[in-house]
Amino acid sequence: MRKVTLEQLFLHPIAQKYLSRSGIAHAVTVAEHAAAYAQREGENMDFAAKAGLLHDIGHYTWYRDGEWDTALYRQNDIHAIKGATRAHKLLLQLGEHPANAKTVAIAILLHTDSYLPEGKLALNPLQRIVHEADEADEEPNGAHHYRKMTPSTALARIIALDHKVEANDRLNAQQTS
Ligand SMILES: [Fe+2]
Repeated sequence: MRKVTLEQLFLHPIAQKYLSRSGIAHAVTVAEHAAAYAQREGENMDFAAKAGLLHDIGHYTWYRDGEWDTALYRQNDIHAIKGATRAHKLLLQLGEHPANAKTVAIAILLHTDSYLPEGKLALNPLQRIVHEADEADEEPNGAHHYRKMTPSTALARIIALDHKVEANDRLNAQQTS
């Protein structure tokens, strides 16, 4: 039984504040992609959807003279680190089991390697899924962060995704009993 739903996470003021900064449409779409990939691969849909939803919650706005400054962003960005800790705190606050909160937080920490030294990370399937779900929704020049979605559409899609995760959990429970 899930202790925390996507709806609870999405409606929390912290999520609302930071998701609007990095784009609610992008967050919802990445959550949907990640959940679909997880279902296809037999991985944990709940973790994938939560990490997908919250993966960019650590973004800071790097503007100079009212314009987005890519150089400043590249130089200073730690959004995956910030996002992992912010998501971890939020999940615990809502009552998530600490081990689950850690799994989701690490998937967020590793969803991009743009801030890490050169090299190849051996991602586990959940971490790779969140990375691929993010990439699948990326648009040139970061346009995916500015795509619009009405709050009611976003909420409806989040609730629908909760239902999919729960239906999948029920199916898995039936198959193992
Ligand atoms: Fe992203």
